[in-house]
Amino acid sequence: MADPKGFPLKDNATHTAAEHYERYSALLMAPFVTAALDAADLFPGAHVLDLACGTGFVARAAAAQVGPTGHVVAVDLLEGMLRIAARNAPRMYPDIEFTQASADKLPYPDDSFDAIVCQQGVQYFPDLAAALTEAARVTRPGGRFTATAWTPPADRSPYFAAQLKAVTDHGTPEAEARFAASLSCTADRLTDALTTAGFHDITTREVTFAIAFPDLADFASGHLAADPWGRSIEEAGGPARFTEAAETTREALAPHTSPDGSATLPFTTTLATATR
Ligand SMILES: C[S@@+](CC[C@H](N)C(=O)[O-])C[C@H]1O[C@@H](n2cnc3c(N)ncnc32)[C@H](O)[C@@H]1O
Repeated sequence: MADPKGFPLKDNATHTAAEHYERYSALLMAPFVTAALDAADLFPGAHVLDLACGTGFVARAAAAQVGPTGHVVAVDLLEGMLRIAARNAPRMYPDIEFTQASADKLPYPDDSFDAIVCQQGVQYFPDLAAALTEAARVTRPGGRFTATAWTPPADRSPYFAAQLKAVTDHGTPEAEARFAASLSCTADRLTDALTTAGFHDITTREVTFAIAFPDLADFASGHLAADPWGRSIEEAGGPARFTEAAETTREALAPHTSPDGSATLPFTTTLATATR
């Protein structure tokens, strides 16, 4: 198998992958976006890069913080993510600039940014050190790099453990390997890559939030359809196989679910900061 990293989110016939991502990831990502931006120390007028922006949760929040004299650019590999990001970007100061690019080849001059924030993106870069070296190149001396990545092991989160079981039971070995790889980025690996890239004053810490899901089964099914591993179940086995996978997730999470279908589950991310 090729490198198991990456986030190969494909649209299906109705082109809803990134829309699903926006809708079903918002609840999960919200407190972590706030934590990452707090750590990034943005200021009015700052030039900020949202690296691996997805549908733009960080970019939108950063734009509000840097204000009318600031500048936010948001980069992602997937055109579909950027399309939804641009559609959902508020017409506010400053306009957010969305660009399709790979993290290891950024179309910006040296020293362009005061801060880079990469929320749940580093674990997908095929060559993490190369991507972070490129991040260091476009950060001004003294500028800040902040990243989050779900803390391994996968079974630390009942939610991810249930999703992984669904992908293992119903998906392809490739999807399982990719999903497992996405949940294996350790603080040490991040620290090593940031050091190799030339950053200094590197810190890592764990941040845990309990997320309240009003209807966990609905969320889990929608969220599974919004990530590459869940979509690959449908690609390989059709809608019936996907329904079975969603049911596996629901059963695995049943011990954590209240009779009314709600649940509150812990999620832990590694939050890394560094200075160029
Ligand atoms: C889990 S999503 C996170 C998106 C967003 N940062 C958020 O907080 O919701 C991972 C994102 O990383 C992007 N990505 C993966 N590999 C990339 C690369 N080499 N260069 C740029 N973006 C990449 C994917 O396209 C995807 O949008």
